[in-house]
Amino acid sequence: MPPLVDLRRLPKHVAIIMDGNGRWATQIGRDRSDGHRAGSDTVRTVVRTARRLGVEALTLFAFSEQNWQRPAPEVTALMALLRDFLVREREELLENGIKLRAVGRTDKLPPAVREVLEPLAAETAELEGMTLTLALSYGGREEIVDAARRLAERVGRGELDPAAGDEHGLEAAMPSLDVGPVDLLIRTGGEQRISNFLLWGAAYAELHFSPRLWPEFDAECFYEAIASYQRRERRFGRVAQLPKSEASAADAE
Ligand code: IPE
Ligand code: IPE
Ligand code: MG
Repeated sequence: MPPLVDLRRLPKHVAIIMDGNGRWATQIGRDRSDGHRAGSDTVRTVVRTARRLGVEALTLFAFSEQNWQRPAPEVTALMALLRDFLVREREELLENGIKLRAVGRTDKLPPAVREVLEPLAAETAELEGMTLTLALSYGGREEIVDAARRLAERVGRGELDPAAGDEHGLEAAMPSLDVGPVDLLIRTGGEQRISNFLLWGAAYAELHFSPRLWPEFDAECFYEAIASYQRRERRFGRVAQLPKSEASAADAE
C-alpha cells in the first residue's frame, strides 16, 4: 500500500539530490554511465508523479559545478544523456503544461546540450502546470557568489544603494529562488549531506534521506517522502502552534 498523502498540504517546492547512479551500476558489474541512463528513467517517473500530485515546483540536482572534476568519459556520457532526455521528454512536458528551466553556470554546458535546452525553456516558458528546474553546473555557493557579484556591479554603476541591500535583494538575484524556498529536500543514495545544493533556498527545508539508490527510487518512495514531510511541524524559529481551542483559552486569560 502506498503511504497516504494529503493533497491539501503538499510541499510547494520539492528539491531532489539524485544520488547513487554510479553505485547502482557498479553493484551489478556495469559501467557508471549505465547507472546514469537508468537514473534518467527515474527522472521521468518522478516528474510524472510530482505533476500528477500537484506539486508546483520540482528542482532536480542533475549535475554539480564540482561534477566537472569527474573523469572525462563520465562527463561526456552525462551530457549526452542530458541531451537525449531533453529531446525525448519535450512532448510530455508540453502535454502536461510543465515549464522547464535550468539554473547554474549553464554557459559551461556543451553546445549540443544548450541547443536543445534553450529552445525548450523558451517553448515552455508560459506553461503553468508545474515548474521543473534542472540544476546544471550548479553549486549553492557559486549561486550566492554570482548573486553578490551582480549586486556589487549594480552598486558600482550607481543603480543600487548598498544601505538598501538586504536578504530580499540577494534572493531576487538567485534564479533558484524564483520558485520560492525549498519545502522538502530529498536525497537518495544513503548519504546524509547537502553537497553544495540549494544552500540559501533550503535554509528551512525539511530533509528526507532515502537509502534507495536513484535508479531504484520510485513513485512509492516519492509518496513516502511527502508523507514524512506531512508528519513534521515546521516552526521557522517560532514556537509550536497551539491547537485552536487552547489558543482561544489563552487569548481569554
Ligand atoms: C548521481 O549519482 C548523479 C550525478 C552526480 C551526476 P552518482 O554518479 O553520484 O552516483 P554515486 O554516488 O557515485 O553512486
Ligand atoms: C551531488 O551528488 C550532485 C548531484 C546529485 C548532481 P555527488 O555524488 O556529486 O555528491 P558527493 O560527491 O557524494 O558529495
Ligand atoms: Mg554520488
